[in-house]
Amino acid sequence: MAEGVYQVAIDGPAASGKSTTARLVAGDLGIQYLDTGAMYRALTLDVLRHGHAPTDPTAVLERLSRLELDWREDRVWLGEEDPGEAIRSNEVSVRMGPICAMPAVREWMVDLQRRLGQRQSTVLDGRDIGTVVFPQARFKFFLVADLAERARRRQRELEARGQQHTLQALMDELERRDLSDASRSTGPLRQAEDAILVDTTTLGLEEQAALIIKQVRLVLTREAFCD
Ligand code: DC
Repeated sequence: MAEGVYQVAIDGPAASGKSTTARLVAGDLGIQYLDTGAMYRALTLDVLRHGHAPTDPTAVLERLSRLELDWREDRVWLGEEDPGEAIRSNEVSVRMGPICAMPAVREWMVDLQRRLGQRQSTVLDGRDIGTVVFPQARFKFFLVADLAERARRRQRELEARGQQHTLQALMDELERRDLSDASRSTGPLRQAEDAILVDTTTLGLEEQAALIIKQVRLVLTREAFCD
């Protein structure tokens, strides 16, 4: 790894505010942001577009072998296509669980994420960054929030895109995803022992980002003085 390059791992359950926080932190520190969930979403979109079932490992691995997945300009690319909001559709969200649990898929994604995150200092958000992708990351945070609060955040996000969902339906879906993320045998959602736990239930996005930025800057400044 190049000297001076560091990683900030931000893990946690769905709708805990990871991606917006990670973007704000990366912007403030002037380093790369990598949304690893977007990568699993892009593969799922590709599998669905080709008419395959996400539960069919042969079909998923066949698509994976042809996947031209890249990360440029702060977003995921499928070859020359920017899939945009299509990766965040409800269909992708509810059907991606089996794909995320396939060991060969995780191995492929982790390898790409390491290559992208080693080239330059990077903030990565996901489920297994501090435990699997970069267990040696200099900074690790684990974001959590109450289920009802996460469902309210998701509801506001979907409303802004013109989609109406009841709070109960969103709580059920988040609970299902939490369970699926935490119970898979490869790369499950788990707090790394050395990660700092941040409960975001009563925090705004700016506040939780500021907390992380403060911690990172404190350590970087201290290290600069000791060098
Ligand atoms: O962060 P997100 O909600 O966009 O993630 C979408 C899905 O991808 C989520 O259900 C879990 C999965 N995921 C994963 O398995 N490993 C990661 N490092 C990031 C996301």
